[in-house]
Amino acid sequence: MKKIHAAITGIQGYVPEYILNNKELEKLVDTNDEWITTRTGIKERRILKGQKGSSEMGVKAIEGLLKKTNTSAKEIDLIICATVTPDMLFPSTACLMADRIGAGNICAFDISAACSGFLYALTTASKFIESGTYKKVIVVGCDKMSSIIDYTDRTTCVLFGDGAGAVLLEPNSNGFGIVDYILKSDGSGAEFLKMKAGGSLYPATHETVDAREHFVYQDGQPVFKKAVKSMADVSEEIMKKNNLSSDDIAWLVPHQANKRIIDATSRRMGVGDDKVMLNIERYGNTTAGTIPLCLWDWENQLKKGDNLILAAFGGGFTWGSIYLKWAYDSKK
Ligand code: UT7
Repeated sequence: MKKIHAAITGIQGYVPEYILNNKELEKLVDTNDEWITTRTGIKERRILKGQKGSSEMGVKAIEGLLKKTNTSAKEIDLIICATVTPDMLFPSTACLMADRIGAGNICAFDISAACSGFLYALTTASKFIESGTYKKVIVVGCDKMSSIIDYTDRTTCVLFGDGAGAVLLEPNSNGFGIVDYILKSDGSGAEFLKMKAGGSLYPATHETVDAREHFVYQDGQPVFKKAVKSMADVSEEIMKKNNLSSDDIAWLVPHQANKRIIDATSRRMGVGDDKVMLNIERYGNTTAGTIPLCLWDWENQLKKGDNLILAAFGGGFTWGSIYLKWAYDSKK
């Protein structure tokens, strides 16, 4: 019997309309376009305005995906949502989205792995397909980072944006789809990248609000060092494990946290800039949204059989890579 792989058969992104560019940030904090561009590669990011949560963007991405792939919400067996900005601590954002799209009483849950969330969710979803349990699974990465960003902190507010991307996963018996994955974590990294309050350890109090502990805290340099090494290591590791040379790789799809981290990863892999998906300049770091948003932006350049390496590093620390064979010739 041929092995069943989980293949991406459709992709759709959603970004909110409002554009927060570097010039506007110059009015909020002591920063400048030159610093942000040279240190990160970011020019602008999208912001979801109003009383709306991450699910708002996730639902828009899913609805577009269903339409594009001619799939009814009732056909979906499972929704996994990767997010660190759920609408609420509970219920899960996946449950809210399954209800909003009219999917019925299906299995739905969230995965929290910060910037590696999409890789963790995609790998988890693939197991339900490979085992034959489910036939149509949606994986959505969505984060409203603006809801946890301190717009008086110049070291973080220039980095992040809001966005969502969703993929449809289906079984494939012809060798296309997810071939291999490596997922890692190191909880000792929490001291460098976290949102301190709002969980069970430090529930919200007047003090936690006054101390601005409901926002992202990041000690940039140690995170940068660990990100450069880990993303490059894990990308090289998955190539070696699967006997892939740089010529075999059609695309590197990296998490978009900092252009310098992406450059270091592609250099280590020996992959030229023309094979690297990059949209950080327009969206910044959308956490779980970056990788599906890249795939969405590049969809019409992808060809059936292309070897893709997806790679990410983020809060936890978490990091990882996925090797997949693209399953269809795209027509956007
Ligand atoms: O996706 C989740 C994982 N996160 C990441 O992968 C992010 C990893 N870290 C980074 O990407 C980088 O560390 C940052 C982009 C956050 C910062 O870049 P850096 O080159 O590491 O800068 P730095 O923190 O060493 O700061 C250099 C200088 C400092 O000033 P002094 O001490 O040299 O006078 C900062 O205060 O730049 C200053 N600075 C800024 N200046 C203008 C920090 N933020 C800003 C800013 N505008 N926004």
